[in-house]
Amino acid sequence: MARLSFPDGFLWGTATSSHQVEGYNVNNDWWQWEQHPGHIHDHSRSGAACDWWNGRAEEDLSLAAQLGQNAHRLSVEWSRLEPACGVYNPAAFERYRRLFQHMRTLGLTPVVTLYHFTLPRWAANIGGWTNPLLVSRFATLAAECARRFGDLVSIWCTVNEPAVLVYNAYAGRVWPPGTGNLLHGLRALRHLLLAHAAAYRAIHEVQPDAQVGIVFNMPLLEPARPHHPLDRQVTFWQDWVFNEAKLRALRAGVFVPPLAFPLQPAPHVQGSCDFVGLNYYGRYLVRFDVTATGDFFGRHVQQPTVSRGHTDWGQIYPEGLTHQLLRLRALGRPLYVTENGVCDNLDVVRPGHIVEHVRAVHRAIQQGADVRGYFHWSLVDNFEWVEGWSARFGLIAVNPFTQERRPKASAEVYAEICRTNRVPA
Ligand code: FCB
Repeated sequence: MARLSFPDGFLWGTATSSHQVEGYNVNNDWWQWEQHPGHIHDHSRSGAACDWWNGRAEEDLSLAAQLGQNAHRLSVEWSRLEPACGVYNPAAFERYRRLFQHMRTLGLTPVVTLYHFTLPRWAANIGGWTNPLLVSRFATLAAECARRFGDLVSIWCTVNEPAVLVYNAYAGRVWPPGTGNLLHGLRALRHLLLAHAAAYRAIHEVQPDAQVGIVFNMPLLEPARPHHPLDRQVTFWQDWVFNEAKLRALRAGVFVPPLAFPLQPAPHVQGSCDFVGLNYYGRYLVRFDVTATGDFFGRHVQQPTVSRGHTDWGQIYPEGLTHQLLRLRALGRPLYVTENGVCDNLDVVRPGHIVEHVRAVHRAIQQGADVRGYFHWSLVDNFEWVEGWSARFGLIAVNPFTQERRPKASAEVYAEICRTNRVPA
C-alpha cells in the first residue's frame, strides 16, 4: 500500500494535562469547583485521576514509548510548584525532574505546558487572570522551570487555549471562576496573552535556545448556509473573536477586543513565539440567530458526528486541520499539532479519525506548512473537565476505580504510524 512519509525527526506523541491525570491536585481552583454539586455533569471528581503523581506516569509513558511514540506533551501543575504566592515547593520540582529524566531515558521528548487551565487557589482568590499580578507571577514561574528543567526540557508551551479558558471561565459560567462577565473575559484574555509574552522572554533569558510557543484551539467555523449574508457575517465575528484576535496580537502587537472597545497596544506580544501549537477538534456550522446574544448572534447547528455527552465537540472534519495549519503558516513559525482527538467512548471512530487527521497534517506539510509534530489527545482516558469521566479520549482505557489499563484498537493504529513515520495513503 502506498504510504505518505513525514519529515525526519517528526515528533509523534500524545498529550495530557496535570489536573486531568495526576490526581489529588487539591490546591487548585478546579478541585474546589468539582466539589460543588452540578458543576460536573456526571457527578464525578478528578480524585486520583490516572494516579500519575504517585508513579503511574512512568508506567503509562513507558507504554507510550512501547507504542512507538517519541514525544509526550504534558503540563506542570502551578499549584504544586508554587503552593503559596512566591513560595516554591522543592519536592514538586524534584518529582517532575524525575519524570522528565524517565521520559528522556525512554526516548520521549518532553513538550511541557506551563499553564493548562488550573490555577493555584491563592491565584484564584485574588481574581485569577483578571488580576495583572498573575502576569509577572507566571513569568517568574516560567523562568524557575527553565532554570530547574532546562537541561531536560527545551520545548515549552506557555498557555494552553487562552480563548477556550476565557469563554468557559470568565465570559461563561461553566469553569472556575464562572463569573459570566464579558468584560472580565476580555481582561483575562489580555492578561493571558501578556503572561505568555512575559514567560516567553523570561524563559529565553535563562535558556536562550529554548523553543517557546503558545497553544491555540482553532475550530473551523463556517456559515451553515454558505451564501447567506447574515450567516457569513456572524461566522466572521465568531472566528474573529475566537481565532483571529490572538493571531493578530502575535502578528501586529495589538490587542483588539471585539466591537466598541478601543485598540490596546500589546507590543510585547508581537512575535513572541518560536512555534505555534494548534489544538484542533472539528468544525462548527454557524447560523444567524437573533436570540444568540452571547455568541455574536450565531448558533452552531452542525449534526453531531459522534455522541458526545453534554459538550459539543464539533463535527469531525479533517480538512479543517489542513485549513487551520495553512492559516497559521502565515505567522512564519514552525507548527505543532499539540492536540487532536475525538470523544469516542467505544473506540469505534478513533482508529479512522487518527488516520484521516494524520493525512490532513501531511497535506498541510505538502502545501508548505512547517509542521514538526503531532500529539494525539490523549494517551489515557482521563478527567475531562465538566464532562468528568464520561467523555473518553484515550488510546489506553483507564478504569478510574481500579486504575486498570487496557490499550484500545486505536493505540495500535497510531503505533504503526509512529513506528514507521508514515501513514497509509
Ligand atoms: C482541549 C483541552 C484538553 C482536553 C481536550 C479534550 O480543549 O486542552 O485539556 O480537555 O480539549
